[in-house]
Amino acid sequence: MNFTKNILCIGAGYVGGPTMAIIALKCPEYKVTVVDINEDRITSWNSDNLPIYEPGLLQAVQAARGTNLFFSTAISEGIRAADIIFVSVNTPTKTFGLGAGMASDLQYWEKTAHQIVMHSDQSKIIVEKSTLPVRTAEAMERILSENKKDIHFEVISNPEFLAEGSAVNDLLEPDRVLIGSQQTESGRQAAQAIVDIYAHWVPLEKIITTNLWSAELSKLVANAFLAQRISSINAISALCEKTDADVAEISFAVGSDRRIGSRFISASIGFGGSCFKKDILNLVYICRSYGLNEVADYWEWVIKMNEYQQERFVKKMIKEMFNTIVGKKIALLGFAFKANTGDTRESPGIYVAKKLLEEKADLVICDLQAQDNARKDLAGFDGRVCFEPDPYRAIEGAHAIAVITEWDLFTKLDFKKIFTMMEKPAFIFDGRNILDHQRLFQIGFNVFPLGKPSLTHF
Ligand SMILES: NC(=O)c1ccc[n+]([C@@H]2O[C@H](COP(=O)([O-])OP(=O)(O)OC[C@H]3O[C@@H](n4cnc5c(N)ncnc54)[C@H](O)[C@@H]3O)[C@@H](O)[C@H]2O)c1
Repeated sequence: MNFTKNILCIGAGYVGGPTMAIIALKCPEYKVTVVDINEDRITSWNSDNLPIYEPGLLQAVQAARGTNLFFSTAISEGIRAADIIFVSVNTPTKTFGLGAGMASDLQYWEKTAHQIVMHSDQSKIIVEKSTLPVRTAEAMERILSENKKDIHFEVISNPEFLAEGSAVNDLLEPDRVLIGSQQTESGRQAAQAIVDIYAHWVPLEKIITTNLWSAELSKLVANAFLAQRISSINAISALCEKTDADVAEISFAVGSDRRIGSRFISASIGFGGSCFKKDILNLVYICRSYGLNEVADYWEWVIKMNEYQQERFVKKMIKEMFNTIVGKKIALLGFAFKANTGDTRESPGIYVAKKLLEEKADLVICDLQAQDNARKDLAGFDGRVCFEPDPYRAIEGAHAIAVITEWDLFTKLDFKKIFTMMEKPAFIFDGRNILDHQRLFQIGFNVFPLGKPSLTHF
Protein backbone atom coordinates (compact mmCIF):
# COMPACT_ATOMS: atom_id res chain seq x y z
CA MET A 1 0.00 0.00 0.00
CA ASN A 2 1.10 3.57 -0.71
CA PHE A 3 1.04 5.61 2.47
CA THR A 4 0.69 9.40 2.30
CA LYS A 5 3.00 10.00 5.26
CA ASN A 6 5.66 8.15 7.22
CA ILE A 7 5.45 8.74 10.95
CA LEU A 8 8.18 7.47 13.22
CA CYS A 9 8.15 7.32 17.00
CA ILE A 10 11.44 6.88 18.83
CA GLY A 11 10.75 5.22 22.20
CA ALA A 12 8.30 2.31 22.50
CA GLY A 13 7.32 2.88 26.13
CA TYR A 14 4.14 3.67 28.03
CA VAL A 15 3.62 6.76 25.88
CA GLY A 16 5.12 5.87 22.49
CA GLY A 17 3.41 2.48 22.13
CA PRO A 18 -0.20 3.42 22.98
CA THR A 19 -0.05 6.84 21.28
CA MET A 20 1.20 5.43 18.02
CA ALA A 21 -1.27 2.52 18.13
CA ILE A 22 -4.15 5.01 18.24
CA ILE A 23 -2.66 7.27 15.56
CA ALA A 24 -2.23 4.21 13.29
CA LEU A 25 -5.75 3.04 14.03
CA LYS A 26 -7.29 6.44 13.26
CA CYS A 27 -5.07 7.37 10.29
CA PRO A 28 -4.95 4.33 7.98
CA GLU A 29 -3.30 6.35 5.20
CA TYR A 30 -0.19 6.98 7.37
CA LYS A 31 2.51 4.42 7.99
CA VAL A 32 3.42 4.48 11.68
CA THR A 33 6.64 2.87 12.88
CA VAL A 34 7.72 2.68 16.51
CA VAL A 35 11.40 2.02 17.20
CA ASP A 36 13.36 1.38 20.36
CA ILE A 37 16.88 0.39 21.39
CA ASN A 38 15.38 -2.22 23.69
CA GLU A 39 15.01 -5.39 21.59
CA ASP A 40 12.96 -7.23 24.21
CA ARG A 41 10.42 -4.42 24.26
CA ILE A 42 10.07 -4.49 20.49
CA THR A 43 9.70 -8.29 20.52
CA SER A 44 6.89 -7.93 23.06
CA TRP A 45 5.16 -5.23 21.03
CA ASN A 46 5.25 -7.66 18.10
CA SER A 47 3.64 -10.40 20.21
CA ASP A 48 0.32 -10.61 22.03
CA ASN A 49 2.15 -10.31 25.32
CA LEU A 50 2.58 -6.53 25.16
CA PRO A 51 5.28 -4.97 27.35
CA ILE A 52 2.72 -2.85 29.21
CA TYR A 53 -0.77 -3.53 30.46
CA GLU A 54 -3.51 -1.06 29.50
CA PRO A 55 -7.20 -1.90 29.11
CA GLY A 56 -8.07 -2.02 25.37
CA LEU A 57 -4.47 -1.69 24.20
CA LEU A 58 -3.99 -5.21 22.87
CA GLN A 59 -7.11 -4.89 20.70
CA ALA A 60 -5.96 -1.52 19.33
CA VAL A 61 -2.49 -2.88 18.54
CA GLN A 62 -3.86 -6.04 16.95
CA ALA A 63 -6.18 -4.00 14.75
CA ALA A 64 -3.37 -1.97 13.16
CA ARG A 65 -0.18 -4.01 13.58
CA GLY A 66 1.19 -5.34 10.31
CA THR A 67 -1.17 -3.09 8.32
CA ASN A 68 0.08 0.43 9.04
CA LEU A 69 1.61 -0.02 12.48
CA PHE A 70 5.09 -1.51 12.83
CA PHE A 71 7.45 -2.07 15.75
CA SER A 72 11.14 -2.31 14.97
CA THR A 73 14.70 -1.85 16.20
CA ALA A 74 15.84 -0.44 12.84
CA ILE A 75 16.24 3.12 14.12
CA SER A 76 18.44 4.60 11.38
CA GLU A 77 16.24 3.24 8.58
CA GLY A 78 13.18 4.52 10.40
CA ILE A 79 14.69 8.02 10.72
CA ARG A 80 15.68 8.10 7.05
CA ALA A 81 12.18 7.21 5.86
CA ALA A 82 10.21 9.45 8.23
CA ASP A 83 8.45 12.73 7.42
CA ILE A 84 7.49 13.30 11.05
CA ILE A 85 9.41 11.97 14.05
CA PHE A 86 7.85 11.82 17.50
CA VAL A 87 10.48 11.55 20.23
CA SER A 88 9.08 9.69 23.21
CA VAL A 89 12.18 8.54 25.04
CA ASN A 90 12.44 8.53 28.82
CA THR A 91 13.46 11.71 30.65
CA PRO A 92 14.03 10.53 34.23
CA THR A 93 15.34 12.61 37.11
CA LYS A 94 19.10 13.05 36.93
CA THR A 95 20.93 10.85 39.42
CA PHE A 96 24.42 12.35 39.07
CA GLY A 97 26.30 15.63 38.75
CA LEU A 98 24.74 19.06 38.48
CA GLY A 99 21.05 19.03 39.33
CA ALA A 100 21.19 15.42 40.62
CA GLY A 101 17.87 14.40 42.19
CA MET A 102 16.04 17.37 40.65
CA ALA A 103 16.77 18.14 37.00
CA SER A 104 15.69 16.05 34.02
CA ASP A 105 18.27 13.66 32.66
CA LEU A 106 18.26 14.56 28.99
CA GLN A 107 20.91 12.09 27.82
CA TYR A 108 18.47 9.78 25.99
CA TRP A 109 16.75 12.70 24.41
CA GLU A 110 20.01 14.32 23.26
CA LYS A 111 21.31 11.04 21.81
CA THR A 112 18.12 10.82 19.83
CA ALA A 113 18.61 14.33 18.44
CA HIS A 114 22.12 13.41 17.26
CA GLN A 115 20.83 10.18 15.71
CA ILE A 116 18.18 12.14 13.83
CA VAL A 117 20.80 14.51 12.39
CA MET A 118 23.10 11.65 11.44
CA HIS A 119 20.53 9.58 9.56
CA SER A 120 18.41 12.26 7.90
CA ASP A 121 18.81 13.32 4.31
CA GLN A 122 15.66 15.42 3.97
CA SER A 123 13.81 18.02 6.07
CA LYS A 124 11.55 16.68 8.84
CA ILE A 125 9.23 17.72 11.61
CA ILE A 126 10.49 16.66 15.03
CA VAL A 127 7.84 16.36 17.72
CA GLU A 128 8.74 16.43 21.41
CA LYS A 129 6.39 13.88 22.97
CA SER A 130 8.52 13.32 26.06
CA THR A 131 7.96 15.68 28.96
CA LEU A 132 10.83 18.15 28.90
CA PRO A 133 12.02 21.23 30.76
CA VAL A 134 10.73 24.50 29.31
CA ARG A 135 12.95 25.77 26.47
CA THR A 136 14.36 22.32 25.63
CA ALA A 137 13.17 22.78 22.06
CA GLU A 138 15.71 25.58 21.77
CA ALA A 139 18.55 23.15 22.55
CA MET A 140 17.03 20.54 20.26
CA GLU A 141 16.87 23.07 17.43
CA ARG A 142 20.52 23.96 17.98
CA ILE A 143 21.63 20.34 17.78
CA LEU A 144 19.46 19.67 14.76
CA SER A 145 20.53 22.77 12.87
CA GLU A 146 24.22 21.90 13.31
CA ASN A 147 24.08 19.83 10.16
CA LYS A 148 25.89 20.46 6.95
CA LYS A 149 23.28 18.78 4.81
CA ASP A 150 21.19 21.87 4.15
CA ILE A 151 18.06 20.30 5.60
CA HIS A 152 15.63 21.91 8.00
CA PHE A 153 14.15 20.42 11.15
CA GLU A 154 11.11 22.13 12.62
CA VAL A 155 10.64 21.30 16.31
CA ILE A 156 7.13 20.99 17.69
CA SER A 157 6.09 20.37 21.30
CA ASN A 158 3.17 17.96 21.66
CA PRO A 159 3.23 16.81 25.30
CA GLU A 160 1.21 13.76 26.16
CA PHE A 161 -1.50 13.99 28.82
CA LEU A 162 -2.63 10.35 28.89
CA ALA A 163 -2.93 8.71 32.29
CA GLU A 164 -1.71 5.15 32.77
CA GLY A 165 -4.59 2.78 33.41
CA SER A 166 -6.86 4.71 31.05
CA ALA A 167 -4.35 5.44 28.27
CA VAL A 168 -6.45 4.10 25.39
CA ASN A 169 -9.58 6.02 26.40
CA ASP A 170 -7.56 9.15 27.10
CA LEU A 171 -6.04 8.94 23.63
CA LEU A 172 -9.36 8.26 21.93
CA GLU A 173 -11.16 11.05 23.79
CA PRO A 174 -8.59 13.52 25.05
CA ASP A 175 -9.63 16.58 27.07
CA ARG A 176 -7.31 18.49 24.76
CA VAL A 177 -4.35 17.99 22.46
CA LEU A 178 -1.64 20.60 22.87
CA ILE A 179 0.62 21.58 19.99
CA GLY A 180 3.30 24.23 20.45
CA SER A 181 5.41 25.69 17.67
CA GLN A 182 7.63 28.59 16.80
CA GLN A 183 5.48 31.53 15.71
CA THR A 184 7.06 31.58 12.24
CA GLU A 185 5.65 30.54 8.89
CA SER A 186 7.47 27.19 8.91
CA GLY A 187 6.58 26.71 12.59
CA ARG A 188 2.87 27.22 11.90
CA GLN A 189 2.98 24.90 8.89
CA ALA A 190 4.61 22.17 10.95
CA ALA A 191 2.05 22.65 13.73
CA GLN A 192 -0.70 22.31 11.12
CA ALA A 193 0.77 18.97 9.99
CA ILE A 194 0.46 17.69 13.56
CA VAL A 195 -3.05 19.18 13.92
CA ASP A 196 -3.96 17.24 10.74
CA ILE A 197 -3.00 13.95 12.39
CA TYR A 198 -5.14 14.47 15.49
CA ALA A 199 -8.01 16.02 13.52
CA HIS A 200 -8.73 12.52 12.20
CA TRP A 201 -10.59 11.85 15.46
CA VAL A 202 -10.23 14.79 17.87
CA PRO A 203 -12.69 17.72 17.47
CA LEU A 204 -10.81 20.83 16.34
CA GLU A 205 -11.95 22.86 19.34
CA LYS A 206 -10.03 20.43 21.54
CA ILE A 207 -6.78 20.94 19.65
CA ILE A 208 -4.95 23.84 21.26
CA THR A 209 -2.06 25.52 19.47
CA THR A 210 0.37 27.68 21.44
CA ASN A 211 3.93 28.88 21.31
CA LEU A 212 6.62 26.27 21.99
CA TRP A 213 7.46 27.34 25.52
CA SER A 214 3.85 27.41 26.72
CA ALA A 215 3.32 23.86 25.44
CA GLU A 216 6.47 22.57 27.13
CA LEU A 217 5.67 24.27 30.43
CA SER A 218 1.95 23.36 30.38
CA LYS A 219 2.78 19.68 30.79
CA LEU A 220 4.88 20.28 33.91
CA VAL A 221 2.22 22.60 35.32
CA ALA A 222 -0.63 20.14 34.65
CA ASN A 223 1.19 17.39 36.54
CA ALA A 224 2.11 19.76 39.36
CA PHE A 225 -1.55 20.84 39.75
CA LEU A 226 -2.82 17.24 39.77
CA ALA A 227 -0.24 16.13 42.33
CA GLN A 228 -0.92 19.24 44.42
CA ARG A 229 -4.59 18.28 44.76
CA ILE A 230 -3.60 14.83 46.02
CA SER A 231 -1.13 16.27 48.53
CA SER A 232 -3.70 18.84 49.67
CA ILE A 233 -6.34 16.25 50.55
CA ASN A 234 -3.71 13.96 52.08
CA ALA A 235 -2.59 16.81 54.36
CA ILE A 236 -6.21 17.17 55.46
CA SER A 237 -6.48 13.39 56.05
CA ALA A 238 -3.84 13.72 58.77
CA LEU A 239 -5.89 16.44 60.45
CA CYS A 240 -9.05 14.32 60.16
CA GLU A 241 -7.39 11.47 62.03
CA LYS A 242 -6.74 13.86 64.94
CA THR A 243 -10.23 15.37 64.98
CA ASP A 244 -12.57 12.48 64.08
CA ALA A 245 -13.65 14.31 60.93
CA ASP A 246 -14.07 12.03 57.90
CA VAL A 247 -11.91 12.90 54.90
CA ALA A 248 -14.33 11.25 52.43
CA GLU A 249 -17.15 13.49 53.70
CA ILE A 250 -14.87 16.49 53.38
CA SER A 251 -13.86 15.51 49.81
CA PHE A 252 -17.51 15.25 48.87
CA ALA A 253 -18.51 18.52 50.52
CA VAL A 254 -15.55 20.44 49.12
CA GLY A 255 -15.61 18.77 45.70
CA SER A 256 -19.31 19.60 45.24
CA ASP A 257 -18.20 23.17 44.71
CA ARG A 258 -18.00 23.42 40.93
CA ARG A 259 -15.05 25.76 41.21
CA ILE A 260 -13.12 22.93 42.87
CA GLY A 261 -14.56 19.74 41.36
CA SER A 262 -14.41 16.22 42.72
CA ARG A 263 -11.48 14.64 40.90
CA PHE A 264 -8.06 14.01 42.46
CA ILE A 265 -9.25 14.83 45.97
CA SER A 266 -9.59 11.33 47.46
CA ALA A 267 -7.21 10.61 50.31
CA SER A 268 -4.68 7.85 49.66
CA ILE A 269 -1.21 6.69 50.61
CA GLY A 270 0.03 9.12 48.01
CA PHE A 271 0.75 9.52 44.36
CA GLY A 272 3.28 7.45 42.45
CA GLY A 273 4.08 6.83 38.82
CA SER A 274 7.01 7.87 36.75
CA CYS A 275 5.81 11.42 36.12
CA PHE A 276 4.42 13.45 39.03
CA LYS A 277 7.49 13.44 41.24
CA LYS A 278 9.99 13.80 38.42
CA ASP A 279 8.07 16.59 36.72
CA ILE A 280 7.61 18.57 39.95
CA LEU A 281 11.28 18.14 40.84
CA ASN A 282 12.06 19.44 37.40
CA LEU A 283 9.71 22.40 37.86
CA VAL A 284 11.36 23.15 41.22
CA TYR A 285 14.80 22.95 39.63
CA ILE A 286 13.83 25.29 36.82
CA CYS A 287 12.32 27.80 39.27
CA ARG A 288 15.49 27.75 41.38
CA SER A 289 17.67 28.21 38.32
CA TYR A 290 15.74 31.43 37.60
CA GLY A 291 16.14 32.52 41.25
CA LEU A 292 12.45 31.95 42.03
CA ASN A 293 13.07 30.29 45.37
CA GLU A 294 9.64 30.94 46.88
CA VAL A 295 7.95 29.41 43.85
CA ALA A 296 10.30 26.43 44.05
CA ASP A 297 9.63 25.95 47.78
CA TYR A 298 5.88 26.06 47.19
CA TRP A 299 5.94 23.20 44.68
CA GLU A 300 8.55 21.21 46.56
CA TRP A 301 6.10 20.85 49.46
CA VAL A 302 3.77 18.86 47.20
CA ILE A 303 6.43 16.14 47.12
CA LYS A 304 7.32 16.46 50.80
CA MET A 305 3.65 16.03 51.73
CA ASN A 306 3.49 12.90 49.56
CA GLU A 307 6.48 11.41 51.37
CA TYR A 308 4.96 12.36 54.73
CA GLN A 309 1.74 10.52 53.86
CA GLN A 310 3.56 7.28 53.01
CA GLU A 311 5.69 7.53 56.13
CA ARG A 312 2.60 8.18 58.27
CA PHE A 313 0.90 5.10 56.83
CA VAL A 314 3.77 2.76 57.74
CA LYS A 315 4.26 4.30 61.18
CA LYS A 316 0.58 3.81 61.93
CA MET A 317 0.75 0.15 60.86
CA ILE A 318 3.67 -0.51 63.19
CA LYS A 319 2.18 1.43 66.11
CA GLU A 320 -1.25 -0.21 65.87
CA MET A 321 0.27 -3.69 65.64
CA PHE A 322 1.68 -3.21 69.15
CA ASN A 323 4.91 -1.54 67.98
CA THR A 324 6.41 -4.70 66.56
CA ILE A 325 5.89 -6.52 63.29
CA VAL A 326 8.89 -8.84 63.55
CA GLY A 327 7.99 -12.15 61.89
CA LYS A 328 4.39 -11.05 61.29
CA LYS A 329 2.92 -11.91 57.93
CA ILE A 330 1.49 -8.88 56.14
CA ALA A 331 -0.36 -9.10 52.83
CA LEU A 332 -0.04 -6.08 50.56
CA LEU A 333 -3.08 -5.92 48.29
CA GLY A 334 -1.79 -4.27 45.16
CA PHE A 335 1.64 -2.93 44.29
CA ALA A 336 1.10 -0.90 41.10
CA PHE A 337 1.08 2.87 41.65
CA LYS A 338 -2.58 2.93 40.60
CA ALA A 339 -5.25 0.51 39.40
CA ASN A 340 -5.44 -0.85 35.84
CA THR A 341 -1.71 -0.69 35.21
CA GLY A 342 1.22 -2.95 35.96
CA ASP A 343 3.54 0.05 36.35
CA THR A 344 5.21 0.28 39.75
CA ARG A 345 7.53 3.20 39.10
CA GLU A 346 7.57 5.42 42.24
CA SER A 347 4.70 3.35 43.65
CA PRO A 348 4.02 4.03 47.34
CA GLY A 349 4.03 0.22 47.57
CA ILE A 350 7.81 0.21 47.19
CA TYR A 351 8.30 2.54 50.16
CA VAL A 352 5.75 0.70 52.30
CA ALA A 353 7.17 -2.75 51.48
CA LYS A 354 10.77 -1.75 52.13
CA LYS A 355 9.95 -0.10 55.47
CA LEU A 356 7.94 -3.14 56.62
CA LEU A 357 10.77 -5.44 55.56
CA GLU A 358 13.27 -3.30 57.50
CA GLU A 359 11.05 -3.91 60.54
CA LYS A 360 11.44 -7.66 59.79
CA ALA A 361 7.88 -8.40 58.72
CA ASP A 362 7.22 -11.21 56.22
CA LEU A 363 5.46 -9.84 53.16
CA VAL A 364 3.19 -11.29 50.51
CA ILE A 365 2.56 -9.09 47.49
CA CYS A 366 -0.69 -9.66 45.62
CA ASP A 367 -0.98 -7.81 42.31
CA LEU A 368 -1.79 -9.74 39.17
CA GLN A 369 -0.49 -7.10 36.74
CA ALA A 370 2.43 -5.73 38.72
CA GLN A 371 3.92 -9.00 39.97
CA ASP A 372 6.99 -8.94 37.68
CA ASN A 373 7.80 -5.30 38.35
CA ALA A 374 7.29 -5.79 42.10
CA ARG A 375 9.78 -8.67 42.00
CA LYS A 376 12.39 -6.36 40.45
CA ASP A 377 11.61 -3.52 42.87
CA LEU A 378 12.09 -5.80 45.88
CA ALA A 379 15.10 -7.74 44.61
CA GLY A 380 17.51 -8.37 47.45
CA PHE A 381 14.80 -9.15 50.01
CA ASP A 382 14.49 -12.78 48.86
CA GLY A 383 13.16 -15.12 51.49
CA ARG A 384 11.28 -12.32 53.30
CA VAL A 385 8.87 -11.47 50.54
CA CYS A 386 6.79 -13.65 48.24
CA PHE A 387 4.40 -12.97 45.39
CA GLU A 388 0.96 -14.51 45.20
CA PRO A 389 -1.59 -13.39 42.61
CA ASP A 390 -4.49 -15.14 44.39
CA PRO A 391 -5.71 -12.81 47.19
CA TYR A 392 -7.04 -15.63 49.37
CA ARG A 393 -3.77 -17.55 49.27
CA ALA A 394 -1.87 -14.28 49.82
CA ILE A 395 -3.88 -13.45 52.93
CA GLU A 396 -4.00 -16.94 54.49
CA GLY A 397 -2.32 -16.87 57.91
CA ALA A 398 -1.61 -13.11 57.74
CA HIS A 399 -1.72 -10.79 60.74
CA ALA A 400 -2.56 -7.77 58.63
CA ILE A 401 -3.72 -6.61 55.23
CA ALA A 402 -2.64 -3.30 53.71
CA VAL A 403 -4.44 -2.01 50.63
CA ILE A 404 -1.87 -0.36 48.38
CA THR A 405 -3.64 -0.18 45.00
CA GLU A 406 -7.33 0.50 44.36
CA TRP A 407 -7.92 -2.59 42.17
CA ASP A 408 -11.67 -3.21 41.93
CA LEU A 409 -11.08 -6.90 42.66
CA PHE A 410 -10.19 -6.11 46.28
CA THR A 411 -13.59 -4.57 46.99
CA LYS A 412 -15.28 -7.81 45.92
CA LEU A 413 -13.40 -10.21 48.18
CA ASP A 414 -15.24 -12.43 50.67
CA PHE A 415 -13.98 -10.80 53.86
CA LYS A 416 -15.97 -13.13 56.12
CA LYS A 417 -13.98 -16.01 54.70
CA ILE A 418 -10.78 -13.98 54.85
CA PHE A 419 -11.33 -13.18 58.53
CA THR A 420 -11.44 -16.89 59.37
CA MET A 421 -8.16 -17.40 57.51
CA MET A 422 -6.18 -14.72 59.39
CA GLU A 423 -4.27 -14.57 62.67
CA LYS A 424 -6.13 -12.67 65.42
CA PRO A 425 -6.39 -9.82 66.11
CA ALA A 426 -6.79 -9.22 62.39
CA PHE A 427 -5.82 -5.79 61.04
CA ILE A 428 -6.77 -3.99 57.86
CA PHE A 429 -5.01 -0.77 56.83
CA ASP A 430 -6.86 0.67 53.89
CA GLY A 431 -4.43 2.93 52.05
CA ARG A 432 -7.03 3.72 49.38
CA ASN A 433 -10.25 3.91 51.41
CA ILE A 434 -11.92 1.48 49.00
CA LEU A 435 -13.29 -1.08 51.46
CA ASP A 436 -16.54 -1.07 53.46
CA HIS A 437 -15.00 -0.25 56.83
CA GLN A 438 -18.12 -0.59 58.99
CA ARG A 439 -18.81 -4.03 57.56
CA LEU A 440 -15.23 -5.17 58.09
CA PHE A 441 -15.43 -3.96 61.70
CA GLN A 442 -18.64 -5.92 62.21
CA ILE A 443 -16.96 -9.05 60.85
CA GLY A 444 -14.30 -8.64 63.53
CA PHE A 445 -11.42 -6.79 61.86
CA ASN A 446 -9.60 -3.86 63.40
CA VAL A 447 -9.89 -1.32 60.62
CA PHE A 448 -7.63 1.65 59.94
CA PRO A 449 -8.81 3.80 57.05
CA LEU A 450 -7.05 6.99 56.00
CA GLY A 451 -8.43 10.26 57.35
CA LYS A 452 -11.30 8.56 59.19
CA PRO A 453 -11.76 7.31 62.73
CA SER A 454 -10.21 3.88 63.32
CA LEU A 455 -12.61 1.01 64.15
CA THR A 456 -11.04 -1.25 66.75
CA HIS A 457 -12.17 -3.99 69.10
CA PHE A 458 -9.65 -3.14 71.80
N1 LIG B 1 4.15 7.17 31.47
C1 LIG B 1 3.24 8.13 31.43
O1 LIG B 1 2.12 8.01 31.93
C2 LIG B 1 3.55 9.43 30.72
C3 LIG B 1 2.50 10.31 30.43
C4 LIG B 1 2.78 11.49 29.77
C5 LIG B 1 4.09 11.79 29.43
N2 LIG B 1 5.10 10.95 29.74
C6 LIG B 1 6.47 11.30 29.33
O2 LIG B 1 6.77 10.59 28.13
C7 LIG B 1 8.16 10.23 28.09
C8 LIG B 1 8.29 8.74 27.93
O3 LIG B 1 7.70 8.12 29.06
P1 LIG B 1 7.40 6.55 29.10
O4 LIG B 1 6.67 6.30 30.37
O5 LIG B 1 6.84 6.13 27.81
O6 LIG B 1 8.92 6.03 29.23
P2 LIG B 1 9.42 4.53 29.03
O7 LIG B 1 10.65 4.41 29.86
O8 LIG B 1 8.30 3.57 29.23
O9 LIG B 1 9.80 4.46 27.47
C9 LIG B 1 10.87 5.16 26.91
C10 LIG B 1 11.49 4.25 25.85
O10 LIG B 1 12.47 5.00 25.14
C11 LIG B 1 13.50 4.09 24.76
N3 LIG B 1 14.70 4.83 24.38
C12 LIG B 1 15.53 5.56 25.15
N4 LIG B 1 16.52 6.10 24.41
C13 LIG B 1 16.31 5.69 23.13
C14 LIG B 1 16.99 5.92 21.90
N5 LIG B 1 18.08 6.69 21.83
N6 LIG B 1 16.50 5.34 20.78
C15 LIG B 1 15.39 4.57 20.84
N7 LIG B 1 14.69 4.32 21.97
C16 LIG B 1 15.16 4.88 23.10
C17 LIG B 1 13.68 3.23 25.98
O11 LIG B 1 14.33 2.01 25.66
C18 LIG B 1 12.21 3.02 26.42
O12 LIG B 1 11.66 1.84 25.89
C19 LIG B 1 8.76 10.77 29.38
O13 LIG B 1 9.32 12.04 29.12
C20 LIG B 1 7.56 10.91 30.30
O14 LIG B 1 7.75 11.92 31.25
C21 LIG B 1 4.86 9.76 30.36
